[in-house]
Amino acid sequence: MQIAWIICFMAAAQAADYTGPLRPQVHFSPPVNFMNDPNGLFYDDRSGTYHMYYQYNPSEPVAGNQHWGHATSPDLYHWTNQPIAISPSESDQYIFSGSAVVDADNTSGFFPDQEDGVVAIYTVDSPDKETQHIAYSRDGGYTFTKYAENPVIDSTSKDFRDPQVTWHQGTQRWVMAIAYAADRVIGFYISSNLKEWEHASNFTQAGLPGVEFECPNLVEFPVDPVLAHEGRKHVLFISVNPGAPLGGSGTFYVVGDFNGTHFESETPDATLYDFARDNYAAQWFSGIPAGQPPVSIGWASNWDYTEEVPTGETEGWRSAATLPRTHTLGQVDGSWVVTHSPADALAPVKGAQLGSWDLQPGKNGMTVDFSHVSSKAVYLAVEIRGINSLSPAGEVAFKISSSTSGESLDGGLRLEENRFWISRAGTHLFTSQDNGNFTSEFRAEVSAEKSSFSFSAVVDRSVFEVFLADGSRSGTMSFFPTSPLDILDVSAGGLEAGSRVSVDVWGLRGVWE
Ligand code: FRU
Repeated sequence: MQIAWIICFMAAAQAADYTGPLRPQVHFSPPVNFMNDPNGLFYDDRSGTYHMYYQYNPSEPVAGNQHWGHATSPDLYHWTNQPIAISPSESDQYIFSGSAVVDADNTSGFFPDQEDGVVAIYTVDSPDKETQHIAYSRDGGYTFTKYAENPVIDSTSKDFRDPQVTWHQGTQRWVMAIAYAADRVIGFYISSNLKEWEHASNFTQAGLPGVEFECPNLVEFPVDPVLAHEGRKHVLFISVNPGAPLGGSGTFYVVGDFNGTHFESETPDATLYDFARDNYAAQWFSGIPAGQPPVSIGWASNWDYTEEVPTGETEGWRSAATLPRTHTLGQVDGSWVVTHSPADALAPVKGAQLGSWDLQPGKNGMTVDFSHVSSKAVYLAVEIRGINSLSPAGEVAFKISSSTSGESLDGGLRLEENRFWISRAGTHLFTSQDNGNFTSEFRAEVSAEKSSFSFSAVVDRSVFEVFLADGSRSGTMSFFPTSPLDILDVSAGGLEAGSRVSVDVWGLRGVWE
């Protein structure tokens, strides 16, 4: 009787309370306890369902006891928590990060009678080594059976993890990117059946940052049509921890070509994926239909402080995912840039417009009270026109504050300095006094060579994301106020005569209501 009850409990999604004042309302966060990396992201085009698995400790709000949690969504915003998808088989093993693919052509042989079989490829972390395993799902990704002949790649190393598998059209084979973490090398393996893997090559490059490499993602991008002669490119995203340029964990990318076995970088330096500290281990969805832009989700936290942030004690959960993002690859000033924008321009969660303002000399500020927006999540879009690009002057700043405590987040553009900043220094529930690595201000150099500059941002209770200059930079920052932020101010000062600043603000509809 008791055993039956335990099995029943394990097969149900964990009960969740998404009402806490720090709980993001348009971002995914786990039902309870601790999450880190998104795993196994795939889109099932038969049912129109996005699947997200994630590193999950179901028993405590700190890392450890890693499983694959699971959630599904029709639109990348409204998530339904599902029962845990993959659990360790032994008490001293953990299920670490990995990926998932739909094996429509039954290359694996697991799916004789169906076209929607799913194979998950993940690391099993044991006391003495990390090895690569697979599990298959005949019900579209809800339940998995572990392959009887695991591991599919054995090892003697404790630093060999995070397989990301994609289908390589040119060679008609599966390709795995995987981290030799401590060597700071990315390995590529190839396979025709997802069971037998052959080592094909290793990639590293002098000068790449970090102490350990983790969670590589090899992503094929169509190139901006303006650069059509470039055709398609591959971008290799590598997460590093510790030792990211801003401290702790962070992600960078290099751009080049992948011929089915070898990646060749054509960028001499790594490019930072995010200019703040809370966007790690992003993973790209497999199965996105051809012709649609690549889609990713990252982990909106940092190993430096993730296990100490206050949501664990106050609300029983820790860490959120970033917004789902779509990306393009283009060039800015001759360098490759991956752009970011919220998937579907936030359409599934965009609520009523709270106002539209035109700031100009003589009326250089606006304030909107959004305490009536039940999610306390808003989207703002700011455009500055008429910048004197020869000698840019002035500042456009925003402040999002609490009517109760006066705490605030702020940021903005300093035109003379070609600099955008964001700061969480004005929020007080968790600060650099609690953890010295919880630094408060982040800056991005931006080019003001054009006569206009735009930025947009989502503030969602304890997660803030900003997108600059057509998404060519993104800044992702967690923050923890003692009382909810519910007032937004934007001000402009010292701008060129004749310049204009437009501000548009929308409420966002909570997805957990
Ligand atoms: C990255 C990471 C991965 C590992 C997982 C463990 O954040 O350290 O390398 O697979 O988290 O939870």
